[in-house]
Amino acid sequence: MFARNAVASVCSASTIARCPAGSAPRSWCLACALLLLLALAGLGVVVPLAARMRQEPRAADQLAAVRRMLAAVPLVDGHNDLAWNLRKFVHNQLHRFNFSADLRAVGPWSRSPWSQTDLPRLRAGMVGAQFWSAYVPCESQYKDAVQLTLEQINVIRRLTDSYGAQLSFATSSEDVWRAHRSGRLASLVGVEGGHSLGASLGVLRAMYDLGVRYLTLTHSCHTPWADSSSESLLDSSTGGQGLTDFGKVVVMEMNRLGMLVDLSHAAPATVMAALNATRSPVIFSHSCAQALCNASRNVPDAVLRLLAQNGGLVMVSFYADFLTCSSTARLEDVMRHVTYIRDVAGEDHVGIGAGYDGINRTPQGLEDVSRYPHLLAELARTRGWTMPQLEKLAGRNLLRVLGKAEKVKEELRRLSVDPREDWIPPAVLGDRNQAGCLGR
Ligand SMILES: *[C@@H]1O[C@H](CO)[C@@H](O)[C@H](O)[C@H]1NC(C)=O
Ligand SMILES: *[C@@H]1O[C@H](CO)[C@@H](O)[C@H](O)[C@H]1NC(C)=O
Ligand SMILES: *[C@@H]1O[C@H](CO)[C@@H](O)[C@H](O)[C@H]1NC(C)=O
Repeated sequence: MFARNAVASVCSASTIARCPAGSAPRSWCLACALLLLLALAGLGVVVPLAARMRQEPRAADQLAAVRRMLAAVPLVDGHNDLAWNLRKFVHNQLHRFNFSADLRAVGPWSRSPWSQTDLPRLRAGMVGAQFWSAYVPCESQYKDAVQLTLEQINVIRRLTDSYGAQLSFATSSEDVWRAHRSGRLASLVGVEGGHSLGASLGVLRAMYDLGVRYLTLTHSCHTPWADSSSESLLDSSTGGQGLTDFGKVVVMEMNRLGMLVDLSHAAPATVMAALNATRSPVIFSHSCAQALCNASRNVPDAVLRLLAQNGGLVMVSFYADFLTCSSTARLEDVMRHVTYIRDVAGEDHVGIGAGYDGINRTPQGLEDVSRYPHLLAELARTRGWTMPQLEKLAGRNLLRVLGKAEKVKEELRRLSVDPREDWIPPAVLGDRNQAGCLGR
């Protein structure tokens, strides 16, 4: 105690700060600094200080290396719900929305815990491609789900067009690379939930034509042909088989079209049935590892291993509830999940699907779309991720999967596989079907 006080009184911080480089009193200054350090050691300050000085330059180096990598390889995020917020907040009226603004300063976005996305922060986060979710709620099933989904696809396309200098609509892996080379973010569309199809393969094909490149087989409700992980199996439409015969046809038709099968939200039996039915690799657009948080939305180890055979990937969600099975999470928790999936499924089968704008509890350190480079830099610094592995995690894995789906499409076209014309008779849909004219 005495030593510290004495040193503090003789060598004040300002004395040291004023030490002139290379001048006469320099040795006195050095002695002072040394004494101060010794004194601080007594406080247990020096070790963490030294560790910080060792780490900080490395952290900055890693971040710089990650930024160079993301300039060459597009970071592809699997899921973002901005389009749903556009509907909720401005009724899809884009003249009332300024994507170039920092939305943390613009109401009602600034007041919403569900808003984490705008162009300035996407740019800071070096996002190269985004699957925008054309999500509509399960309450619209058997009502206006198809109309609402078309409106959500439309608002994503209009948003992309009206920010043409920053965004570029993309429907293929090559489109994503091209957009990235031109310095623009590639806008892709995913439809979240088979209820959006109105049980119609014609609607599925029309949505493909509008640019949709993945369909999540279910959201939080069973469809007439696939089971959701959120509803009781007692209400299963498939007799517990996961997919009906029509459901398997939906998967095959998606293979034929070149649309990715997304299994986030699917019931375990649906996951197994879809893996068995598909010829293309599948994705989980926003899910985590069940071994680390036992939630029904997360992927069990057995499926992670099957995914390695299938060639697909899990894109890790940043929702605290799926990361830690609690209401809080930190950047470290995302690192745990991506590293776990890399170790169990393999480095070719993991990606990122944060789910921003559809989540209200984000990890500390990953608060919004500006933070992806920090995640990658921390993985390199503390978890032994190599730069080639980070390239795969960031974008190469998803782009490989999309490219493979395009190849399968081409193979099936060469085999002259015809569009399927299966349908579900209204009598099977029963009185849930209120659309009236489907039987004609
Ligand atoms: C949108 O926000 C940007 C950035 O704050 C600003 O420069 C621009 O003028 C705004 N555009 C409109 C139409 O308000
Ligand atoms: C997998 O699909 C084949 C037909 O392609 C079928 O015969 C078999 O029963 C399926 N297995 C499971 C577990 O669904
Ligand atoms: C996960 O939870 C389910 C249902 O709550 C339970 O049946 C299962 O045993 C749990 N798994 C693990 C690994 O704890």
